[in-house]
Amino acid sequence: MKTRITELFGIKHPIIQGGMHFVGLAEMASAVSNAGGLGIITGLTQQTPELLAKEIARCREMTDKPFGVNLTFLPGFANPPYPEYIDAIIQGGVKAVETAGRSPEQYMPQLKAAGIKVIHKCTSVRHSLKAEKIGCDAVSVDGFECGGHPGEDDVPNMILLPRAAEELKIPFVASGGMADARSLVAALALGAEGMNMGTRFIATREAPVHENVKKAIVAASELDTRLIMRNLRNTERVLTNAAVEKIVAIEHAKGEGLGIEDIRELVGGVYPRVMQKGDMDAGAWSCGMVAGLIHDIPTVKELIDRIMSEATVIIRKRLEGFLDA
Ligand SMILES: Cc1cc2nc3c(=O)[nH]c(=O)nc-3n(C[C@H](O)[C@H](O)[C@H](O)COP(=O)(O)O)c2cc1C
Repeated sequence: MKTRITELFGIKHPIIQGGMHFVGLAEMASAVSNAGGLGIITGLTQQTPELLAKEIARCREMTDKPFGVNLTFLPGFANPPYPEYIDAIIQGGVKAVETAGRSPEQYMPQLKAAGIKVIHKCTSVRHSLKAEKIGCDAVSVDGFECGGHPGEDDVPNMILLPRAAEELKIPFVASGGMADARSLVAALALGAEGMNMGTRFIATREAPVHENVKKAIVAASELDTRLIMRNLRNTERVLTNAAVEKIVAIEHAKGEGLGIEDIRELVGGVYPRVMQKGDMDAGAWSCGMVAGLIHDIPTVKELIDRIMSEATVIIRKRLEGFLDA
C-alpha cells in the first residue's frame, strides 16, 4: 500500500507506533520498523539527552529501517532541555520526529535544518492547520477515543478525520481507537493516509513492559477507561484501577477547585512502577478505549502482517463486493 505517509517516511506500510512513555524503548520501535511500520522511541522516557543518544544507537543496532523519536512538550512545571534532546536526535541520524503536547514552532528551524520530517500530534482541526502553517510535514490526528491526552474538545475520529481532510493539504494519519485492518480501511475512507496506534502495540510480544500490563489490556473492555484531570485542562484517558477510582472521587469532591497537588502522588512517577514492575494499581496510566478490540498478544510482525492482509480482503472483497452485487 502506497500513500503520502509511506512515501514521506520511507516505510512499507502506513502504520506508525505513537510515542509512549516507558513503552517506546528501542525494543518496541525496532520491532515496528522491522515489520515495515514506523517505530518511535519516546524521547523523554530517557532522562537526559545523553541517554536518548544511547537509546537511538541501541535501536540502530536492532534495525536498519527508518525509525523516529517522540518529543512531548509537557505542560507547565517540567522543562526538559529540548534543544539538547533535538541535538541527540540529529546526531543519531534520526529523520523522523513525532511532536506532541504543544506546538513545535520554536524548534522547527532546528529540525528542518537537519532534514527531519516532523509529524505533529493534534487533537483538533485548528491545531492541525497551525501545524501545517509552521511547516510540519504531516499530522497525527488524535480523536477523543485515544489513550493519553485527547485534548478538551471531545470530538471522536468519525467526525474529526473527515473534518481534517476537508481542511488540510499535508497528509495525516488517524490516531486513537485504531487496532486492526478495519480501523486502517476506515481511516483511509475518512481521508487519512495511514494510522497511528498506541495501546494496540503495548499488547505485543516485543513491547518491553511487564506481562501484567499486556494482560490488563486484553482483559479490558471499551468501557474500562476513564478521563481524569479535566478540571486541570490536562485531560488524560487512562485504564481504570483502584488509583484512578480514587482520583475520580477526589475530582468529584474538589470540582473546579482541583489542583495538581490533590492528585500528584496518584499521577506522578507512576510509569516505571506500572510498566516495569507490573504494579497495576500504582497510579493512572494512559490506555485507549480501543482496549475493547484487543484480544491477543501477537508479535508485532504478526499484528502488522495481519492488518495489511485483512485490509486487502476488506477493500477487494467486502467493499468491492457491495458494488459488484
Ligand atoms: C501508555 C501510553 C503512554 C503514552 N505516552 C505518550 C507520550 O509520552 N507522548 C505522546 O505524545 N503520546 C503518548 N501516548 C499517546 C500515543 O502516542 C497515541 O497517540 C495514542 O495511544 C493513540 O491512541 P490509542 O491508544 O487509541 O491507539 C501514550 C499512550 C499510551 C497508551
